[in-house]
Amino acid sequence: MIKATGIEKSYNDEKVLKGISLEVKDGEFVSIMGESGSGKSTLLSILGGFLMPDCGQVFWQGEDISTFGENRLADVRCTDVGFVFQSFRLIPTLNVKDNMLLPATLGKKASKETCDYVEELVQELKLDGLLKKYPTQLSGGQCQRVAIVRALAYKPKLVILDEPTGALDSVMEERVMELLSRINRVHGTTIIQVTHSKKVAEYGNRIIYLKDGEIDG
Ligand SMILES: Nc1ncnc2c1ncn2[C@@H]1O[C@H](COP(=O)(O)OP(=O)(O)OP(=O)(O)O)[C@@H](O)[C@H]1O
Ligand SMILES: [Mg+2]
Repeated sequence: MIKATGIEKSYNDEKVLKGISLEVKDGEFVSIMGESGSGKSTLLSILGGFLMPDCGQVFWQGEDISTFGENRLADVRCTDVGFVFQSFRLIPTLNVKDNMLLPATLGKKASKETCDYVEELVQELKLDGLLKKYPTQLSGGQCQRVAIVRALAYKPKLVILDEPTGALDSVMEERVMELLSRINRVHGTTIIQVTHSKKVAEYGNRIIYLKDGEIDG
C-alpha cells in the first residue's frame, strides 16, 4: 500500500528525520509511537503527501508520489487517502456537515451513498445535533471526531491519523478505536496512526517506535 525509503527531513538546521524506511502492506493497521518531538507528525505529513522530504521517496501502491504533480496528488488525497491532522485543520468558514463532506464534494456533489455513510458515522461518534455548527463553536474533542468522520467519509483505502484520540475521553476513545478496527477488518482499510497511548497503539497489528528521527529496533 505504502512504502517509504531513506526519508530525511530538516527544519532549518535541525535534522528531524534521519533516513526512515518503512513499508505498510494492504490491510495492515500500524501504530507509530515515540517521544514528543521525535518526528512522528513530520513523518505522517510526508507519508500523506502534504510535505516533501529532503531525501528519499514515498510510494503509494508502487508509484513514487513525487512524480504525481499537484492535481493528481490532490485528487488521490481526496478519494484514496484520509488524513486526520494533530491540529484537525477543519475549515472555519464551513459548518460541520460541509467539513465532513468536503473531500467528497471537491468538484462534485456527494453521492447519496456517501451522505448515508457519513450519517452512520455521525451517529456512531455522537455528533448528531452539531451538523449546522461551525468549528469555532465546538470543543476540541468534537473537532477531533469531525476530522475523523471527514477522513473516513469517502471510504479511502488508506487512513492516516495523528493522535486520533488525543482530545477524547476514555468512552469516546474506545468508540473511535472500535470504529477504526472495524473498518480495518471489514473494509480492509489500511491504517497508520500515531499515538502516545499504549492501549490505543495495541488496536493495531504492529507498533513502530520512532526515536530522534530514526526507527528504534
Ligand atoms: N514547521 C516546522 N518548522 C520548524 N520546525 C518544526 C516544524 N514542524 C516540526 N518542527 C520540529 O521538528 C521536530 C519534530 O516535530 P514533530 O511535530 O514531527 O514531532 P512529533 O513526534 O509529532 O511530536 P508530538 O508528539 O509532540 O506531536 C520538533 O523538534 C519540532 O520542533
Ligand atoms: Mg505530533
